[in-house]
Amino acid sequence: MARIVAGVGTSHTPAIGAAVDNGKAGQPYWLPLFEGYEPAKRWIAETKPDVAIVVYNDHVNAFDFKIVPTFALGCADEFPIADEGWGPRPVPVVKGYPELAAHLVQSLVLDEFDMTIVNEMQVDHGLTVPLTLLFGTPQAWPCRVIPLAVNVVQYPAPTGRRCYRLGQAIRKAVEGWDEDLKVVIFGTGGMSHQIQGPRAGLTNPAFDKTFLDGLSQDPQRLVRIPPIEYLREAGAEAIELVMWLIMRGALGEKVEEVYRFYHIPASSTAVGHIILECR
Ligand code: DHB
Ligand code: FE
Repeated sequence: MARIVAGVGTSHTPAIGAAVDNGKAGQPYWLPLFEGYEPAKRWIAETKPDVAIVVYNDHVNAFDFKIVPTFALGCADEFPIADEGWGPRPVPVVKGYPELAAHLVQSLVLDEFDMTIVNEMQVDHGLTVPLTLLFGTPQAWPCRVIPLAVNVVQYPAPTGRRCYRLGQAIRKAVEGWDEDLKVVIFGTGGMSHQIQGPRAGLTNPAFDKTFLDGLSQDPQRLVRIPPIEYLREAGAEAIELVMWLIMRGALGEKVEEVYRFYHIPASSTAVGHIILECR
């Protein structure tokens, strides 16, 4: 059967993608960040997942404000790269897994998580920057990708508890797929950041550290964090962190933290990264 073997939490700051695409990754500002992801690249090259479920948020690129689905699962064959204003990022097209995605939708809906089915969708930096950070700059992405887009851009975002439970249902759904597949799930966005208004540039390393500790040691503490607390403590865009709880919920009870990295700044964000293996 298919199994989720590990979870990856990582920020998806668009400036990171721009640094790679414009040949700036070796510059003094960026080098420490990319060096921090080197162990992660080695880890994923050794782990060799067949499928990555990437939990991310669309930033008004695939969906505009006409339709804002809370949880949307990408069921297409492939997902073209969105043009976010500077042309699409020069990265490979993202190949999906429609049969498995359809199975996930069925299992999740029967489990009472009403997923929006998306049969055509472009993907933005929220999904492509994590792929770049982990896989580098290959000719083709080395695994198939099932995008799970979560609304965190228009109030109300789903609660952390709801996200964690969705993760648990995803684990069950994956284990119901009768094919030997190694699946890694990504939770993306965060960590602390505020990109607009008088508090622009706010970061909160203490909040971020406590969140990372909770992911590996006590996720039940994290699911009790009310949405407003992310905004107040860690900036408006820190609400993206609820997506990491989908990832954590999909790993089962016991995990081992095998890597962690934290870095400020990347553009105006705190960059956090964690790898948790299922035990
Ligand atoms: C920015 C945008 C993001 O989506 C994000 O997660 C972090 C930073 C930005 O525009 O800088
Ligand atoms: Fe974002």
